[in-house]
Amino acid sequence: MIDHDNLEEFSDGENYDRENGGLHPSYAFYTELAVATGGPVLDLACGTGLLTIPIARQGLATTGLDLSPSMLAYARRKAAAEGLKVVWLHGDVRSFQLEQRFRFISMTGNAFQAMLTVADQEALLARVAKHLEPGGCFAFETRNPTGHDLSTCLDEEPWQQYVDTRGNLVTMTTTQRYDPERQVLHWTVIRRWEEQGEPKLRASRIACRFTGPDELNATIARSGLTLAAQYGWWDRAPLTPASPTIISVLRKAP
Ligand SMILES: C[S@@+](CC[C@H](N)C(=O)[O-])C[C@H]1O[C@@H](n2cnc3c(N)ncnc32)[C@H](O)[C@@H]1O
Repeated sequence: MIDHDNLEEFSDGENYDRENGGLHPSYAFYTELAVATGGPVLDLACGTGLLTIPIARQGLATTGLDLSPSMLAYARRKAAAEGLKVVWLHGDVRSFQLEQRFRFISMTGNAFQAMLTVADQEALLARVAKHLEPGGCFAFETRNPTGHDLSTCLDEEPWQQYVDTRGNLVTMTTTQRYDPERQVLHWTVIRRWEEQGEPKLRASRIACRFTGPDELNATIARSGLTLAAQYGWWDRAPLTPASPTIISVLRKAP
């Protein structure tokens, strides 16, 4: 389905934070749930720890797991600089196997959409179910297909700018191609900057699966976990067709 590893966007942890490091409302939402369980916490697809680190700051025993060595390396450096004892693990959310069990598992940054098939989603949920303590909680979000533009647009659309670690102003544009059969949106992200007057360009690819609430809830039901709550935004607004996101809170039977 894709001829790349789907990690091209995650090859440079420090610059990832330059692009995405703002305070997102999801962090407060997940941190509150984590604190309510008392931990231990497992943050799946933790990236550079943008959520993992705020959870660890609450004094909870915290583990972050991700597939990108660069993202993990920067997460490790940031946590060490704060003296936080986070366990950082390299692993795939579809196949990880740990001895420890967790009271709370999170997965944010729409990382659920890196599960490009229903089989991948099922594998993830099976790993989560296995690693939750009885009564434990798993929370994640995925972009709502009806709240998003799932068209094909091969003309570059402006996206955002940021200043990278070398002080270059980077301008980002995107193109997108939607595969309706597989429900997968293939983005190409193009970054342009100048070095000593020379134009530079880097293109990276990322594919994300879009799953609507009905299909998602059927997959959740098969996992053996129970859907405890579902929201359309971080303020716990109800999920509607216009909601930009589907936030799901799942529980394992006590
Ligand atoms: C958009 S980032 C989100 C990172 C972090 N959760 C955040 O909110 O900033 C997606 C992350 O998912 C990770 N990832 C993608 N597929 C994965 C997989 N199969 N197993 C583990 N991590 C994966 C990537 O390496 C990347 O760090």
